[in-house]
Amino acid sequence: MIEGLERMIKEAIKAKDIIKNTTSRIMVVSHYDADGICSAAIMYKALRREGKDFHISIVKQLSENILENVSKAKPEVVIFTDLGSGQINFIKKHLSCSITVICDHHEPQGEPDESIIHINSLVAGIPEHISGSGVTYLFARTLNPENVDLSPLAIIGAIGDSQIDSIGIDWGLNGINKEILKEAGERGLMKVEKGLRLWGRYSRPLHKALEYSIDPYIPGISGSESAAVQFLQEAGIDPKKPDGGWRTISDLTIEEQRKLADEIIKERIRNNHENPEYVFGDVYELLDKPEEFRDANEFATMLNACGKMGKAYLGVMICLNMKNAYPEVKKVLEMYRREVGKGTSWLISNLKNPDVVKKGHGIYIFAGDNISEHIISNVVSIVNHSGVLPDKPIFGFANSEEGIKISARISEKLGERGINLKEILSELSEKLGGQGGGHMHAAGAVIAKGKEMEFMRMSEEKLSKILCDQKPENLAGFVH
Ligand code: C5P
Ligand code: ZN
Repeated sequence: MIEGLERMIKEAIKAKDIIKNTTSRIMVVSHYDADGICSAAIMYKALRREGKDFHISIVKQLSENILENVSKAKPEVVIFTDLGSGQINFIKKHLSCSITVICDHHEPQGEPDESIIHINSLVAGIPEHISGSGVTYLFARTLNPENVDLSPLAIIGAIGDSQIDSIGIDWGLNGINKEILKEAGERGLMKVEKGLRLWGRYSRPLHKALEYSIDPYIPGISGSESAAVQFLQEAGIDPKKPDGGWRTISDLTIEEQRKLADEIIKERIRNNHENPEYVFGDVYELLDKPEEFRDANEFATMLNACGKMGKAYLGVMICLNMKNAYPEVKKVLEMYRREVGKGTSWLISNLKNPDVVKKGHGIYIFAGDNISEHIISNVVSIVNHSGVLPDKPIFGFANSEEGIKISARISEKLGERGINLKEILSELSEKLGGQGGGHMHAAGAVIAKGKEMEFMRMSEEKLSKILCDQKPENLAGFVH
């Protein structure tokens, strides 16, 4: 058994006894991203199975205000999923009369007392490769072994939380995520195949999939429909079916997929793109979903879209296979895409505006109200992959209700040179009246309004230390 898992299960058993014995309405509070939505869906099914009465809320963040509202219902039991560990002190303050179960994978702040059952992967000694929905799933499975059928939700949550990465040459889900994936596979709920990592495997005509591909980015083809059509012609791949309809990636034979992948890799090598071969990888399929919702990566994006567009409940509904929600989710996804497109165009047209983009060791994008706090991360990811800016750490700032939302991204190459965005953002945001975290290559934070310049100054200091302390040969190609 993976070290630490036992510690988590021990906590989960305590929580199981509490849930089994309660007869009053259980309050569930979850986070609004894909991981939180999957966690909420897991709790929905698990509590239903136990015949419990419950209420689920999905929130952007667990503020004192929300905790006060929860406490008004005087619940006997409250369950927090994909959040809660960072707000232990507030939970103690507002929910001292309730028993609280926290299923989370975020950094804990504060010490739980005897009224809090804290199921947290970090506390158990598992630093990565498990999501909030993974922890929630382990709890649900402890509650009732039948809940093994919820394993795909833990996987979608992990993918939504960008947990696909590499250990050596293994590019995909690892650690506990891989164990959970095995459970989903054994029950015929999921399938893993090697394939082209392009969006719209089942839903987009081939040339559209190429045109819209941002990760992997295809230089000269991403963003241009005519170039995408020509590219397919030159690769000798027919974009149409015999009946005249458009083919999708899933219609291609494995040989055709390989041929297409080879051509994309060649294009990326020609343009000195980093990791040119990262176009072929694990594709995770959800076998119980309608065809165009089968790609777990796309499914996770849809959940993120639902959360960010204020319709998290629709995300929970599709997680629960409520078919009537699918048409609505497609509309939400379109709206979300339009917003991301608008934000990206605004930034592209302002790249030379010194009030918007400031460059040093890092690149700082001041979006204010021009890009919503919900999509600044998407826009920063897109420009990070697109090559329109030099290869430097990118920090995007957008106004938010709580202050200033920051989203930061770096390339693999910069990660190898010792930059860790999680460390930088959590340290600086704490100093600037906020909170931050995430991963080495992708992190986010909230800081107090008006502290942006101070953040930039402190970040420049840190980056200069990391990048300039290196031996000169490691600095080849770095432009100050
Ligand atoms: O919002 P964004 O996509 O930029 O977040 C990247 C990562 O940073 C995510 O894993 C998210 O959970 C984390 N994050 C955080 N604290 C914040 C904002 C984001 O830990 N205030
Ligand atoms: Zn999460």
